[in-house]
Order: sequence, then structure tokens, then C-alpha cells
Amino acid sequence: MPKPSPSPTPSVEPRFIRACRGEPVDRTPVWILRQAGRYLPQYRAVRENVSFLDLCKTPELAAKVTLDAATALGVDAAIIFSDILIPLEAMGAPIVYGDEGPKLPAPVRTREAAARLHGFDPARETRFLGESIRLVCRALPPDVPLIGFAGAPFTLFAYLVEGGGSKNYETTKRLMLEAPDLAHHLLDRLADAIAPYLSAQASAGARALLLFDTWAGMLSPHDFDAFVVPATERLLAKLDRGGCPVAYFALDSAGLLERIARLRIDVVGLDWRVDLGEARTRLGPKLAVQGNLDPCVLFGPRSSVEARVREILAINAGRPGHVFNLGHGILPHTPVENALALVDAVKKYRSS
Ligand code: CP3
Repeated sequence: MPKPSPSPTPSVEPRFIRACRGEPVDRTPVWILRQAGRYLPQYRAVRENVSFLDLCKTPELAAKVTLDAATALGVDAAIIFSDILIPLEAMGAPIVYGDEGPKLPAPVRTREAAARLHGFDPARETRFLGESIRLVCRALPPDVPLIGFAGAPFTLFAYLVEGGGSKNYETTKRLMLEAPDLAHHLLDRLADAIAPYLSAQASAGARALLLFDTWAGMLSPHDFDAFVVPATERLLAKLDRGGCPVAYFALDSAGLLERIARLRIDVVGLDWRVDLGEARTRLGPKLAVQGNLDPCVLFGPRSSVEARVREILAINAGRPGHVFNLGHGILPHTPVENALALVDAVKKYRSS
């Protein structure tokens, strides 16, 4: 009997995807949170002629800034250019981007205001995002996957209630205390709207999905269990992942890691306030991690950027399941050459 012809070499998944799944890689993959931003001259040049929201909503331009950043840095993943607040507008809560960050002119704090919010069809109301994703995926090399993202229910809820960013989130916490039913109702509505929005990014071509819960670390562990976990689980249960690994990132999450580890996710984003090795021990063997260099290290000399990168890679000690990144978004005044030095240092690292 003739021997069966050898099966074609299985196509090897990009190292970023393998690392998200905890599989061995040739070297640690790297990308930078908010890699398309104002620190980059190519981004500033595009923004000279277009507002932030118009940039998000113009697929050719959003695709250009996504690709410009990934190419300029030589990173192992691209992230689609958009913002976590985009779906709020599609739900009926307009947003304004000013010099002091995003604001909602009409915050949602009552049952009446909550009743005016509505679900949306990502194929219609945020069609531009699917188109941006398709354009980027066509242009990216096969070893550089695209990350799709959304805000997690709690962080979107905090923006909705507060009307913008906040130091102490007093209004949000007050509403959670005074009207917990309304808080849960809003969180559920957000989970229900974000699940199809994120699923649509996977079907448009995103290869990994990232949930930003930036402000969840503002909460006590008790409130995290009571408010964040049920809404996040609701979203994750409804998410059509299309084979994508899912990552979850909260700032200041060191007090919450065991709780985060119980979510149905694959990767945990870590800020710089926690030791990577200790975090991995607390998260357990099944979860990959992403992080966790202090973004301000990029304001120091190149030699210290390189030393701090090596320090984190040495802490991880070659364990599979680590994606190198900053512990939070790259800051607007960061020197580009230090961002490049970071990427270079990760690529050159050899444990010895
Ligand atoms: O390259 C990329 O990483 C993709 C783009 C991206 C943006 N926002 C573009 C943006 C991503 C992944 C986000 C996520 C986002 N947006 C988060 C979660 C991540 C995090 O940083 O914690 C949050 C909390 C927001 C909300 C938001 N949008 C804030 C607080 C601000 C103002 C602060 C700032 O960085 O300017 C924005 C505006 C924003 N989103 C800009 C960019 C490039 C700056 C707008 C400009 O002036 O051009």
C-alpha cells in the first residue's frame, strides 16, 4: 500500500498568539499598550488634520495609524486604532474628546437616563470598526496578528456615571451604594452591548481580544466580587471568541489577582506595581500574563530601559505564557527612541 503523502507542515501560529495560549515560543513577543498615540510623529501628523473621533471612524486613517505604529516599532502584534468609549456613543451617550481627556456631556445617573440607552448592531452603528479591522488584516504580515479590544462593563459604567475620568470615583461609588439595582442594571446592559461588539471584531479578523477594565482596581475586593465579576462573566459567556485568546487588564490589580484568575480568560494584563513572578504564582499555571514595565522607565536613559527590560524577562525566567508590554499606556511625551530600545531589548534578550 502506498505511503500516505506527508501532511502539509502545520502552519505555525504567530508567537504572540502562542504566548497568549501559554505555548512555548522562540522568544518573548512584545507590543506596546497605546502604541499608536501622540508620542509617535506619524500619529501626530495624521491628527493635525482630523479630530480624534473622526480618525476612529475613518477606516483608511484608522488602519493607517494602526499599521504605522506596528511597523515603526517592529512589534509582534498590532492593536486596532479605536477607543473604549466608542460603543457608549453607539448606545446613545455622546462623548467629547478634549485636552483633558474624554467627557460625557450627559452622564447617566438615573433610571430615566438609563432607559434612554439602547443596544446597537455593530454591523451598522460601528461598521467603521469592522472595516478598519479588515483593512489592517489585509496589510499585516502573517506573523503579526491584530488585537481587537473593548472596555469592560465596569470601566464603561464608571465613565457613564462619572461623565469622564475621575480621581476617586465618588459619584460612581455613591450610585453603587445608593442604587445597587440600577448599577447592576447598567452593568448588565453594558455587558450585553459589548459582547456582540467584541465578537464582531473577531469575525472581522482580530486574532486576540483584550478587555480593558482600567478602573476596576479602584474597588475593594468585596465590590469587585459584587459588581465586576458578574457583569464581566456575563459578557464572557456571551462572547463569540472565534478561537481568539481573551486578555483582561485592570490597573492597580495586585489586590485582585486571585479573583481575576477565576474569570474565563486566557491572559492577565499586569501594571508595574506588582512583581511579575509573584503575580504568576498567584494567578496559577493556566494563565498567561502581559506586562509589566513602568511606562515612566521610558523617560530614563537607554541603558536603564535595557536593564529594566532584562530584569522583567529574567524574573519570568523563560516560562511560557509571557507577552512583554508596558504596565499601562505609553505616555505622550515618551521619546520614540526609547520605545524602539524597549522592543529591541526584548528581541535581543537571551537568558544565560
Ligand atoms: O494604539 C493603541 O493602543 C490603540 C488605541 C487606543 C486608544 N485608546 C486611542 C486613544 C486604545 C487601546 C485605547 C484604550 C483606552 N481608552 C483605555 C484603556 C487603556 C488604558 O489606557 O487604560 C482608556 C481608559 C481609554 C479612555 C481614553 N481615551 C482616555 C483616558 C483618553 C485621554 C488620555 C490620552 O491618552 O490622551 C483617551 C483618548 C485617546 N484614546 C487618545 C488615543 C490615541 C489620545 C487622543 C488624541 O489626542 O489623539
